[in-house]
Amino acid sequence: MPVRWRRELTEVLLTEERIARRVKTLARQINRDFTGRDLVIISLLNGTVMFLADLIRHLSLPLRLDFIGVSSYGSGTESGALVFTKELRLDVRGRDVLLVDDILDTGKTLTKVLAKLRPLRPRRIKVCVLLEKKARRTESVRADYVGFEIPDKFVVGYGLDFAERYRHLPFLGVLRPEVYEVP
Ligand code: IMP
Ligand code: MG
Repeated sequence: MPVRWRRELTEVLLTEERIARRVKTLARQINRDFTGRDLVIISLLNGTVMFLADLIRHLSLPLRLDFIGVSSYGSGTESGALVFTKELRLDVRGRDVLLVDDILDTGKTLTKVLAKLRPLRPRRIKVCVLLEKKARRTESVRADYVGFEIPDKFVVGYGLDFAERYRHLPFLGVLRPEVYEVP
């Protein structure tokens, strides 16, 4: 791990290289599954910035991109009440939608977003997440494409944050509990 981060992170969970390889594979799968379709990608802000940028440059399908802003006003590592900070602009009626998020944790975020999208009558909605923490699921929501299944540890980097920090790290690291546990 870069010396710079040793005081804040316990380990590198996924290296830049490993993430890049997996994202390429996911993109190939998506290219195959949506062949011949005109795709609408809906990405959830802000955690998907890096994942989305890397994923879409490997997609060879015609597609349009839109964003939904979701913010959980919880403090620390537990998600609180969800607030939409940016609404969808594109018309998705009759369209193939790929919903992209950074991590599927309890499932509350995706459940709420899917409930918002379904009444708009897309042809189908597939869900793609970079990470999944199976152990913490409380909602019955599943992802069609999952980059990595990870243990129940708080991770940062590659778009994921703690209090809006660490999003710019090119790898995924485990945050030291001392950083988020207030004494
Ligand atoms: P869910 O609604 O509980 O499924 O949580 C999804 C959201 O919680 C993600 O979009 C992240 O913003 C956040 N989240 C969950 N686990 C982590 C983590 O380990 N690191 C950073 N953010 C996380
Ligand atoms: Mg997030």
